[in-house]
Amino acid sequence: MPLPQLLFSLWTIHLISVVPLGLLVLAMPPQSPVRCGQAGCKLSNSYGKWGDRKDCVASKVAYPTTEEGLRSAVAEAIRSGLKVKVVSKFSHTIPKLACPGANTSILISTEKYDSVIDIDVPNMSVTVDSGVSLRNLIDKVEEKGLSLVAAPYWEGVSVGGIISTGAHGSSWWGRGGSVHDHVVSLSLVVPASESDGYAKIISLEGQDPRFDAARVSLGLLGVISKVKLSLEKAFKRSITYNFTRDEGLEDTFMDHANKYEFADITWYPSKWTAVYRYDSRVPLDTPGDGLFDFLGFRSNSVFVSTSVRAAERLLDTARDASGKCLLASIAIAYKKLIANGLRNGLTFTGYPVIGRQGRMQTSGSCLYTPLWRPDQTCAWDPRIDGLSFYETTAIFPARHFGAFIRDVKRLRDLNPESLCGLDVYNGLLIRFVKGSRAVLGHFRGGGTDGLLPSRGEAALGQEPEPVAFIGAAGKYPGMTAFLKARKWLDPKGVFSSEWSDEILFGKEGEKGDGCALEGLCICSEDRHCSPSKWYFCRQGLVYKDARVCRFERSSMS
Ligand SMILES: Cc1cc2nc3c(=O)[nH]c(=O)nc-3n(C[C@H](O)[C@H](O)[C@H](O)COP(=O)(O)OP(=O)(O)OC[C@H]3O[C@@H](n4cnc5c(N)ncnc54)[C@H](O)[C@@H]3O)c2cc1C
Ligand SMILES: *[C@@H]1O[C@H](CO)[C@@H](O)[C@H](O)[C@H]1NC(C)=O
Ligand SMILES: *[C@@H]1O[C@H](CO)[C@@H](O)[C@H](O)[C@H]1NC(C)=O
Ligand SMILES: *[C@@H]1O[C@H](CO)[C@@H](O)[C@H](O)[C@H]1NC(C)=O
Repeated sequence: MPLPQLLFSLWTIHLISVVPLGLLVLAMPPQSPVRCGQAGCKLSNSYGKWGDRKDCVASKVAYPTTEEGLRSAVAEAIRSGLKVKVVSKFSHTIPKLACPGANTSILISTEKYDSVIDIDVPNMSVTVDSGVSLRNLIDKVEEKGLSLVAAPYWEGVSVGGIISTGAHGSSWWGRGGSVHDHVVSLSLVVPASESDGYAKIISLEGQDPRFDAARVSLGLLGVISKVKLSLEKAFKRSITYNFTRDEGLEDTFMDHANKYEFADITWYPSKWTAVYRYDSRVPLDTPGDGLFDFLGFRSNSVFVSTSVRAAERLLDTARDASGKCLLASIAIAYKKLIANGLRNGLTFTGYPVIGRQGRMQTSGSCLYTPLWRPDQTCAWDPRIDGLSFYETTAIFPARHFGAFIRDVKRLRDLNPESLCGLDVYNGLLIRFVKGSRAVLGHFRGGGTDGLLPSRGEAALGQEPEPVAFIGAAGKYPGMTAFLKARKWLDPKGVFSSEWSDEILFGKEGEKGDGCALEGLCICSEDRHCSPSKWYFCRQGLVYKDARVCRFERSSMS
């Protein structure tokens, strides 16, 4: 049962530093995830994770620009007996599923397959190439007087990546905050017989069970080529953050989600602080031209990121928990002062901040750091020794979430300082996710019940961990439906790898070094974490029989 593991890996959200400072003179927009050399093409993700794994390598990479180009790239791979993995421009996914398993694969990048954004104004829908970036899509639909209602908070992602991983914002209202629940239809490039040219494009929609499987398919059923999304008439949002005590959080979170369409809560347990986001839709003619330029996704000066990291490292070495608690207080006070990055105009002048949907949901200004500012970059850029954090997600059925909050409060009351490290960064971000028809969409996170479409769920963090699927095969009907669709669409597993097989067939694979940090296993030895980066396999703090990777700098000193 992976749940205790999931709960507890939350406490390991922490910094991992990777590359020395010397590289920062390179141009600073995020680096390409694919780099080819003599040994093949190596894939790394935007955090620089998996970069040290020699096995995240394909023999070559293709950059198709059209749907037919995509089809023929898949056909060519199958004809040559190679496997296929899709990668987008930035590769922002956190789990290692995007890795080709062996050097007998090719990568297909959607980076250059991004030209079509076809908006049907009367029908309020848009059909896009899967490589289109979220920001580009949002801006184009807003220009036509329409809005995309659901989107993740981070804009540096492609439409294909969003749909494949089940990316979401936060909402229990309407169709909910998951983008895949706003998909009307999609096309998929899948293997075909030799006489059909090895690969074909199929279109899925409506009640087709393959449509429900393909929407959150983790890249395992084929290449998503086109996506048609439903839109609504353009609207504005009115947002107020209430930084307040966390008293009664376990009783109020549901009312909060029911009352505000785009509610979320950020919780800083070590500071007894909860930040309620009061966030509602308002008519387009409401005055206000606000912008949400989320602090965490802004360009950070390389100097600040590395200094925070260095200060933290010093405090770790000195085992100075109260120093960290002070750092956390400063960080939270600053976030309150600047409203997390909300701006009424040039600056934040007061609540509520009102602005267009396209400017209030999704942000990522660090992506556009100009070349003449090489000292500015996204905080987690692997090329600097900065704030590259380890994120974990857990999903709870709403009715069990109150108990989780009470458990965390108990832990906090035992030793409040132990949670300051978490609160220096983003604390716990609580978002609300609605039940979905997408067969894996509801499964992201691995509770054993709550899998039936329910009123709602609360999600912490950002992406599902593959380890959540361990033990699911054969038990969870969604997984059975997914495997059925896979048998139909990709019977030979062209889009699978050894990493994804571990997940689909529900077995923990051979436990490799670092597997628990990558969400691929539950640790039983330190090497399953990352001892060289001070992550060790330890007993859970509240759930004593859980085994989790925990950051313990002091263990080495
Ligand atoms: C800073 C940051 C903030 C984030 N915030 C949020 C958030 O608010 N909410 C949220 O839900 N998530 C969030 N995420 C997670 C992010 O939304 C997902 O990782 C997203 O799927 C990444 O999209 P991508 O375009 O970078 O895809 P990639 O990382 O390139 O790919 C993701 C997976 O999908 C597959 N894939 C990609 N394109 C296709 C395609 N066309 N066809 C088939 N398979 C494909 C890949 O093989 C891979 O397995 C965040 C991530 C980061 C780094
Ligand atoms: C693939 O990997 C194997 C073993 O690691 C190696 O012997 C072989 O040369 C590689 N092939 C290519 C094309 O790189
Ligand atoms: C618009 O939607 C209507 C009803 O759903 C449909 O009949 C019509 O064909 C659509 N038009 C286009 C151009 O897709
Ligand atoms: C903030 O929340 C507290 C309850 O914790 C409430 O008493 C207060 O009125 C709220 N403030 C605003 C501005 O809504």
